[in-house]
Amino acid sequence: MNIEMLRKEFKEILAHEERAKNFYDHYIDQVEDEEIRKQLIDIRDEEAMHIRIAKKLIEYVS
Ligand SMILES: [Fe+2]
Repeated sequence: MNIEMLRKEFKEILAHEERAKNFYDHYIDQVEDEEIRKQLIDIRDEEAMHIRIAKKLIEYVS
């Protein structure tokens, strides 16, 4: 796999991670149960970390 293909793959990963974070953001605003809300917030924060990782990976191959 060449660098250009790797860069493309990492950009796709970034897009997936951003969609996941947006998904959790959307439901965090709607869920009323506090325990479920906390769980969604934790997962959303993990997705935010995945976004940072994906951006770093893109940087490495740019
Ligand atoms: Fe993720």
